[in-house]
This record gives sequence, structure tokens and C-alpha cells, in this order.
Amino acid sequence: MFELLKKVLAPIGPSGLEAPVAAVIREEIEKYVDTVEVDALGNLIATKLGKAENPRKVMLSAHMDHIGYIVIGAEKEGFLRVTNVGGIGMNASLTRHVVFPNGVHGVVVAEPVSGQPQLKNLFIDIGAKDKEEALKMVSLGDVAVYANDCFRLGEHRVAAPAMDDRCACALLVKLLQTVGETQDTIIAVFSVQEEVGCRGAKVASFAKEPDVGIALDVTGWGDTPGVHYPEIKLGEGIAVKVMDRGSISNPELREALMAAGEKAGVKTQREVLPYGGTDASAMQTSRGGIPVCTVSIPCRYVHSACEVIDMRDMDAGLKLLQTYFN
Ligand code: CO
Ligand code: ZN
Repeated sequence: MFELLKKVLAPIGPSGLEAPVAAVIREEIEKYVDTVEVDALGNLIATKLGKAENPRKVMLSAHMDHIGYIVIGAEKEGFLRVTNVGGIGMNASLTRHVVFPNGVHGVVVAEPVSGQPQLKNLFIDIGAKDKEEALKMVSLGDVAVYANDCFRLGEHRVAAPAMDDRCACALLVKLLQTVGETQDTIIAVFSVQEEVGCRGAKVASFAKEPDVGIALDVTGWGDTPGVHYPEIKLGEGIAVKVMDRGSISNPELREALMAAGEKAGVKTQREVLPYGGTDASAMQTSRGGIPVCTVSIPCRYVHSACEVIDMRDMDAGLKLLQTYFN
């Protein structure tokens, strides 16, 4: 699983520019599914037909996009001005290595201000001598992401900037590769533009008309100094969401997923997240409404350049999902 995760973490794919991620995933899943397509927004949609006479359609959604900094202008001294694509926190933005899809590297820096710096105080130093050179190196509208830096922490943990949500993409790939024959039809959506409002999952769930929707995403953590909620601990199992700010999970579906975890003999955690949202929010209000839940991978420092997960939780998630479908 670690080798696959590393592969899926590597491509640069800010919201709206996910094609390099889709290319890597497509290659991994193609021979395990019945059809693969890419829709107009760039969602990669793989369908694995169920063996039941009248199979349920279960949509699983994991987003490929990653938060980033979009260029809105350049100073005459060559520094780029940027704004956020998705949820950029100031504390996570200070003096960070970023990279543009064309290979240009930069450092995100905040100018000194009295009080907390704001987004408007950020600039990216790409080593340009003036505005003209800067705008030859990158264009207005180009998006930088945190440069990939994937490393192991201790025996079980891994840090990387795009863990949200490539770890769930890797989990979904692994599920397709290992689940075998299922009664349900699985519609695996590697979605786009989650970080800017779950736009990919919205159109995919409309088009595919699933009976059930399950988002696969990271969740927050409550096990580091000064952080107690959500009550989620790394290494203590895969989390099943009760609620976040975007969706309330369907109770029967939630319990069925918890029961699958128990049957699989893996540790699970009940997740009540006082912030955030996932593709489940878009799926649940699609068409006439769809029962949804989110299977969540506990993740520390979400939306930073060092998002940390525990591989044991990934394994627990895989076993839970395999059991749910078998
Ligand atoms: Co996110
Ligand atoms: Zn996410």
C-alpha cells in the first residue's frame, strides 16, 4: 500500500488541473474494472458491475485535487501575489516550498505586518529579477501547490502535502484491485474540485444516479498537544463519520459500515467533526437525495505541507470496505 500511496501522491494536481493524477490512477485500475471514463469536468469514473440480478449502485468518491496558491499578479521586484484555491490556513503558509505544474519552484512568504498576516500579505519568491521575468516563468492564473515531500514518521506513519485526499485515492485504487466479484455495482469516482466546493462529486452523482454514496476522505485529529476534538486518534482505526459541516450520515448506512469493520476485525472510530465537509455533502443532495456516509482516514495537520496519516488506519479502511462489499 505504501508504494501505491507514494505513486498517487506524486503528481501535481491543484483543483481544476487534476489530469496528471487521473493518468496515474487510470493506469492502476484499468484492468480491474468494466469501464473507465473521464467526464467534462475531469472526474475519472470507473465502474465495476455487480453480480446481483438487480445490483445496487454504490458510488465511492475520493477527490484527486489539492489546495494551492493561484497567481493574481506580480510586483515590479518579481514577487508573485497570490490568492487561495481551497482552504489555505495562514499558519501553514509561512515560508513554504511550492511548485508550479510547469516545474517552477517557489517559496511562499508573508511580508511583516502588525498582527496576523492575511492572504493578501503573502507572496511567492520564484527567484525572478523583476515583474517581466516573473511573468515569463509563470502566468497569471497558474497554481502552485506544496512541493511533494513524502517521508515516513516512525514505524507506521507517513507525511506528505497532498495526503488530503490522495491517501483516499490510493485506498480506493487498492479496493478496486482487491475486492473481486461483488453483488453491488461499484461506481468509483476520483473526483475533481472538492476543495472548492465538491463540484466534481456533484455532477458525477447526478450523472450516475447511485443508490448509495460513500465519500472517502481524510478527517481531523484530536491527539496532539492542545487539540482534543474531533475525538480521533491516529493508529486507532478507520473513522466512520456521523456528521461534519457538509453532511449528516445516513444512520443505517453508517451502522452497516461500522458493522463491516467489526466483521473484518479492524478498529473503527466514530467521527463527529465540528468543521469541514466531504464529497458526501454533494452526493446527499443529488437528484431526489441519496443516503451517504464518509469513511475517513484520520489525518494530522490537514491542509498543511505535512499531512500525517497512519498506514494501519489505511489497512483498516481497506478491510472494512472489502468486507462491506463481500
Ligand atoms: Co481538503
Ligand atoms: Zn479532502
